[in-house]
Amino acid sequence: MRYPEEVIEEVRMRSDIVDVISGYVKLQKKGSNYFGLCPFHNEKSPSFSVSPGKQMYYCFGCGAGGNAITFVMEYENYTFTEALKYLADRAGITLPEQEYSKEARAREEQKKTLLAINKLAANYFYYQLKQPQGRAGYEYLRNRQLSDDTIRHFGLGFANKVSDDLYRYLKSKGYEDSILKETGLVTVEERGGRDKFWNRVMFPIMDVNNRVIGFGGRVMGDGTPKYLNSPETRLFDKSRNLFGLNYARTSREKYILICEGYMDVISMHQAGFTNAVASLGTAFTSQHGVLLKRYTDQVLLTYDSDEAGVKAALRAIPILKEAGMSVKVLDMKPYKDPDEFMKQLGPEAFRERIAQAKNSFLFEIQVLRSQYAMDDPEQKTRFYQETARRLLDFPEALERDNYIQAVSREHGIPYEDLRRLVNQLGSRLAPGSRPAQPAAKGEGERRIGERKDKEEGTRQSQRLLLTWLIENPGLFQKTEGIISADDFIEPLYHRVAEMVFESHSKGKVNPAAILNHFINDEEEYREVAMLFHASLKESLSNEEQKKAFLETVVKVKKNRLDRDSRQARDIGELQRIIKEQAALRSLNISLD
Ligand code: GTP
Ligand code: MN
Repeated sequence: MRYPEEVIEEVRMRSDIVDVISGYVKLQKKGSNYFGLCPFHNEKSPSFSVSPGKQMYYCFGCGAGGNAITFVMEYENYTFTEALKYLADRAGITLPEQEYSKEARAREEQKKTLLAINKLAANYFYYQLKQPQGRAGYEYLRNRQLSDDTIRHFGLGFANKVSDDLYRYLKSKGYEDSILKETGLVTVEERGGRDKFWNRVMFPIMDVNNRVIGFGGRVMGDGTPKYLNSPETRLFDKSRNLFGLNYARTSREKYILICEGYMDVISMHQAGFTNAVASLGTAFTSQHGVLLKRYTDQVLLTYDSDEAGVKAALRAIPILKEAGMSVKVLDMKPYKDPDEFMKQLGPEAFRERIAQAKNSFLFEIQVLRSQYAMDDPEQKTRFYQETARRLLDFPEALERDNYIQAVSREHGIPYEDLRRLVNQLGSRLAPGSRPAQPAAKGEGERRIGERKDKEEGTRQSQRLLLTWLIENPGLFQKTEGIISADDFIEPLYHRVAEMVFESHSKGKVNPAAILNHFINDEEEYREVAMLFHASLKESLSNEEQKKAFLETVVKVKKNRLDRDSRQARDIGELQRIIKEQAALRSLNISLD
């Protein structure tokens, strides 16, 4: 839902940035700013700065930057709305209620009740575990080497041997059969209520906001089914939730580990790999992919090393890539799964396996190879051909060539031979299209390179000038009549400049408020945040910098006039431009 801009701005204004960030990071005052260790990358000396004046933060180490809202978004991995709600709560601001239809409100109410019941049930199972009747469950978990801390952290519990234990408990709390049926935790028949789970250790499944939405239950010992999961309910959609993601999303690793089972996730977290998640007894779906992409660009598959695990990996790889993530595959051999691996070899060895994880394409080729009898010339040839065909799927020549190199290295196929095979196949499959070319910069590419450098130069001078104006509001007056928002021709800077000039004319430039306008586009938002903070480095303290300032003004102005002259529609306009260009050569701005 969208909130009115005034509301957003009010929340931001009432959330003092130093106050908000102090809740997460230890800050120390230095001059007019605060410094601390950046929570967004690993560092030993503080390069993370918070400016109370600008109400913004910026890290000189990793480039993270923004205002109070984006800080909470990044740190907690919240969406914009979640962060806004969080800060509004904190500041005691009531956000306007969404307009609901009657049905929607009833649905919302039911959802709340189901969440409350699930929470009760989770507490109940957890309580049972510590009781005499739960002893078997507790011992089972301890035998699997889970610590008390881990058991508490994941809220593991026990559903005991009585078949209507939970049902009676929930009834005693005043819940009607009609709503209890919707939880998937019980069935209600003529003879009365029956628990779905009994004599099982219980794994509560939480959504990313730590709310219990369902359960998995494992038999003790060898019964079947080994795992029983809550059915899908109003709350519980297996293809949109991942076990462990509520914790993994706040881990500071760049990548997320995906495994098959509850116990794998828990073992990995216990060993310090708090970035592990599992799908809930179902195959990995594209919705899972979209969900994960919110938190990471990189995933490592740590599926079981048996045939089923390999198959599951082969299915998940294209889904994850499609969602925009890069994928690697971990080899757990000779052990079956991460849980077993961790018990046998420990976290250090696991970390080594992570470092050796295989690029997903190379993994696919490796699996492919295992399907051919390589001592048979005919099959071997077929393997090469199929490999070449898959290599053709890389549309970019450079990328394709990198993979041709990697495959030829790994499988001992002479590079030239493999490349020729790929090219031949390419021209056969797509007549008229150009075969794969080895990467070499041609004349054309070089010229594009030069043009890019020049573009970056003009962007940089606009960026610098904006930064200076924001940092030294006195410069607005000194450059009045010379520089206006329209001189910033790079579209993003132009939008920022318009807001900066306008808020200056109204009194004061408010960077954190301006930044809010760019919150929906991560790339833009990063760049604008950087703009507002670069000034910490670029002050105008000495003669050299004053000279640099004048040069920058001239550059920005010149670029704009050049562009205008390219677009000029009549002689009159062109004459005006030429006059301005001449005036520029004798421009002088006194900064003292
Ligand atoms: P442990 O024996 O407890 O270590 O289990 P595991 O983690 O090795 O589980 P396994 O590889 O057998 O299965 C992985 C995941 O698949 C489990 O965590 C469950 O989510 C799911 N799963 C396994 N068995 C069943 C089953 O019988 N029914 C259902 N619905 N899901 C299952
Ligand atoms: Mn296992």
